[in-house]
Amino acid sequence: MPAEEGKRITIRKPDDLHLHVRSGEIMRLVVPHTARQFARAVIMPNLVPPVRTLDEAVSYRKEILQCLDSSENFTPLMTLYLTGETKAEDIKHAKESGAVLGIKLYPSGATTNSQFGVSSIKDMKEVFAAMEKYEMPLMVHGEVVDPDVDVFDREKVFIERYFKWIVQSFPGLRVVLEHVTSEEGVSFVKSSSSNVAASITPHHMILTRNDLFSGGIRPHHYCLPVVKTEKDRKAIINAALSGDSHFFSGTDSAPHPASHKENSCGKAGIYTAWHALPLYAEVFDSGDSLENLEKFTSINGARFYRLPLNEGTITIEKSRQTVPAYFSYAEDKIIPLRAGGEISWQVSE
Ligand code: NCD
Ligand code: ZN
Repeated sequence: MPAEEGKRITIRKPDDLHLHVRSGEIMRLVVPHTARQFARAVIMPNLVPPVRTLDEAVSYRKEILQCLDSSENFTPLMTLYLTGETKAEDIKHAKESGAVLGIKLYPSGATTNSQFGVSSIKDMKEVFAAMEKYEMPLMVHGEVVDPDVDVFDREKVFIERYFKWIVQSFPGLRVVLEHVTSEEGVSFVKSSSSNVAASITPHHMILTRNDLFSGGIRPHHYCLPVVKTEKDRKAIINAALSGDSHFFSGTDSAPHPASHKENSCGKAGIYTAWHALPLYAEVFDSGDSLENLEKFTSINGARFYRLPLNEGTITIEKSRQTVPAYFSYAEDKIIPLRAGGEISWQVSE
């Protein structure tokens, strides 16, 4: 039975293990949204130009922290963008610095700002071996870019062609299938060792491909990997709600200016940073699994990345709120998921 109106639950402060905050004005708007709910977030490096070096990660981290009051307790966990130029030595350096949590692999052409990414994954063997040796996790955008592959099959084909190869060739490497979207992805990760994990977004637990076309084309439901079928959505929900330690929260909140989404060639990315924890709670509540929410948001990810569990707690309440229609910043606005609609949970102040 779903919880009653007014029900409150208190969980250990959560982590967002996959987040885009961009830079400049838009960053000043979005960072506080995340910091209100999450103690830490894994910051994706796909800026233009990307965050490729240790120095770039350190200065980006500083910029992120400048978006917050000193009273706000929030830790950005930094990643580096893997390119064809990355060397084994860079991995050693990054590890020794203690300033980098992991390395993000974007197949070149797979998603927003992935043009600097890797075009020949199997040529990265030495870098993957160094990551295995120095215990540096690899975060993977798991989609092939082959134009002959159907857009809804890109994750499944990536797993067959590359993800299995990475997992089998480097058994000591910790690998994350970021934002898993398919039944095949869920089942591969579930049956793998504890070195393999997947992050799960709120939107892939809520939307299917029908929502891309309900009553017209819906640019604010478009992200990559694209949302899939009801069967895939159910597999993702079951994985998250089961509390299985292979799966954890990663919102993939990816803000774009509204004018770049509502466009004849609209950008991929869904904005959920403002209401991510309530969205997750809503899904766990509908599936009668609130008792596993904390594992998913606050324990599984930290254990996988070998981070201490967060100290504080957060209380959320089953109480309806309206999602703002948009968030304005200097140049434009951001339209969040379910803009103007209702959500059944909220963070208690
Ligand atoms: C992300 C972005 O906009 O940076 N977009 C998205 O649709 N998820 C990139 C990514 O994570 O693929
Ligand atoms: Zn992302």
